[in-house]
Amino acid sequence: MTELKIAVVGAGVIGVTTACELQKRFRNANIKIVANEFFEGTTSYVAAGIFCPGTSFSGPTDEITEKWVKDSYYYWENVKDSNEAGTAGVIEISGYMFSSSIPDIVRNSFMEKVCPLYRAATREELKICPGNWKYGSYFTTLVTQSSLYIPWAFNKFKSNGGQIERRKVESLESLAKENDVVVNCTGLGAKFLCKDRKIVPIRGQVIKVRAPWLKNFFYGDYDTYIIPGVDSVTLGGCRQYQSWDLKVNKYDEMQIKEKCERMVPSLARAEVIGSKVGLRPHRETVRVEKEMKNFDGKRVKIVHNYGHGGYGVTTAPGTALHACDLVHELLAGNNKL
Ligand code: FAD
Ligand code: BEZ
Repeated sequence: MTELKIAVVGAGVIGVTTACELQKRFRNANIKIVANEFFEGTTSYVAAGIFCPGTSFSGPTDEITEKWVKDSYYYWENVKDSNEAGTAGVIEISGYMFSSSIPDIVRNSFMEKVCPLYRAATREELKICPGNWKYGSYFTTLVTQSSLYIPWAFNKFKSNGGQIERRKVESLESLAKENDVVVNCTGLGAKFLCKDRKIVPIRGQVIKVRAPWLKNFFYGDYDTYIIPGVDSVTLGGCRQYQSWDLKVNKYDEMQIKEKCERMVPSLARAEVIGSKVGLRPHRETVRVEKEMKNFDGKRVKIVHNYGHGGYGVTTAPGTALHACDLVHELLAGNNKL
């Protein structure tokens, strides 16, 4: 019998999670991750990693979106409850979301359905942070620190026989010709690789600090967030639509420091590790789809899994499981698109 060959393009949180799930589903397959950037070079390494899909986060239907979110929460919760939680960088955390202006900002129906605890903040709790906070929620969720999770997932992938190749892919179709299926997890790279004009960068900048005394997360208005991870705290942030600038901007840095310290004054004594910039791969609808094309005299098979915007760490497992289903359908000869 000939060996099943699958190539996953992309080594961010979406690529490595999808590759590991494919290994579980297709045990005897030869699976390779092909990417031009690994680890520090990916957007995934910039993320705070909190499980908190934005209320606008969308798959093709509400039903599918909710399934992605639920599957993802249970996946991360299982890792958190396992004896590998420490090395995988997954922790449980509770904290506050505050707003001084709009009550709806502190409500999130995805989170209300999956979190073990989600409730309104009390009057006393609205005074925990300086500021004129009028509305608030308190909830328990998970944080996945990509700088631990990605190496952990990579090691699993390699020890299960997975292959790695560092190079830029110029054509998904020509890679698909050499493989039974190609899974496209290229994030913003899909803009060029698939000529997808619907995907745009939303630039973000954060400061990573050490503040081990902080045990809760805090969200405020205007992209203000303080999110403890395993060994550092992420301070953010900003959202700059269609900016491709990967350089640290000192004015963004000053603004982030100022607004986070205003909310949590003890941050003034935190040790700064450094600032990081990432371009969120934003697409109005995250693309998890199968595609068949005629290329060079052959029918080639591609499954797309990209466009997770600011919620790729949150939803990587759910979309990976869906992508695996689509790979299965293509291999089983269900080519209905
Ligand atoms: P990437 O991590 O960018 O990986 C893409 C991969 O594809 C790379 O390996 C790249 O080299 C490869 N690639 C692309 N094109 C090619 C090509 N042609 N050939 C070969 N390889 C290619 N999400 C959350 O859920 N929670 C958070 O708290 C959170 N915080 C964030 C904070 C900031 C400031 C930012 C910027 C993002 C945040 N995110 C968060 C979003 C999250 O980081 C992204 O959704 C996620 O990293 C996207 O993962 P990805 O694997 O699709 O992309
Ligand atoms: C972001 O900056 O994209 C982000 C921050 C916290 C949670 C989710 C996303």
